[in-house]
Amino acid sequence: MKVLIATEKPFAAAAVEGIRKEIEGAGHELALLEKYTETAQLLDAVKDVDALIIRSDKATAEVFDAAKNLKIVVRAGAGYDNIDLAAATAHNVVAENTPGQNSNAVAELVLGLLVYGARNFYNGKSGSELMGKKLGILAFGNVGRNVARIAKGFGMEIYAYDAFCPKEVIEAAGVKAVDNQDALFETCDIVSLHIPATPETKQSINYALVNKMHKGATLINTARKEVINEPELIKLMNEREDLKFITDIKPDADAEFAKFEGRYFSTPKKMGAQTAEANINAGIAAAKQINAFFANGDTKFQVNK
Ligand code: 3PG
Repeated sequence: MKVLIATEKPFAAAAVEGIRKEIEGAGHELALLEKYTETAQLLDAVKDVDALIIRSDKATAEVFDAAKNLKIVVRAGAGYDNIDLAAATAHNVVAENTPGQNSNAVAELVLGLLVYGARNFYNGKSGSELMGKKLGILAFGNVGRNVARIAKGFGMEIYAYDAFCPKEVIEAAGVKAVDNQDALFETCDIVSLHIPATPETKQSINYALVNKMHKGATLINTARKEVINEPELIKLMNEREDLKFITDIKPDADAEFAKFEGRYFSTPKKMGAQTAEANINAGIAAAKQINAFFANGDTKFQVNK
């Protein structure tokens, strides 16, 4: 079988080597398309492949149309909103993700960005500390749980809300479970977003919700830009000079947010999962899942069931 790694944002070299070892070790062939700039390059590369490993690369209906032999696509990472699941299903392609494999990397970035924000982006002015602050984690999945684990070390008071996770599970992790999203925003000094981009969550972080936050609050997004209602957040930040917004996903309205000097920071490129460890974990998991699929039809991580 021919397996293609197609990554506009490449894996660390060690991850590619790890994937190669797994794929070739199982008797398959590995091809590589990195840093491509045109969709046409991807469409050409997928023509004869049986399996595809991607990151945030878009697996659209056009890609599935072009990939006549494709049987499985694995998103090496958590969020699979970049895969057209209906198109995958229509083409009889199994779509999978690798949950949890890069979550520590994202969680470490959250705390790093929070320190950066609390110290006024190192502008020389006196800042504040995280210890004792109330941190709200919106969605208690793999990333949210790692954020809680690390934030405990900072001595933060941690709260969480997750529409799909029982309160008992949250409390068992030593985190205070609140009843709903509104309560999280009302209670916390900082809210960290870990929700996926779904029809229900898109644009859900809006004026009314963020305005519930305390004076001097910080909103941090390492999830997806689509969950933020950008025009409403801009309106609110214009009205409330105390609010900070830190993001690892450049908003569409980056230039407008950038006017909030000292209250806004965006990484130049999505950095959450950009570590050698995360790439190795997620990349090798993807390779193993592909090998298991071809060896015995294993579809444990299928997301288009
Ligand atoms: C994920 O969903 O796993 C993260 O957003 C990482 O995405 P990336 O592979 O594009 O860095």
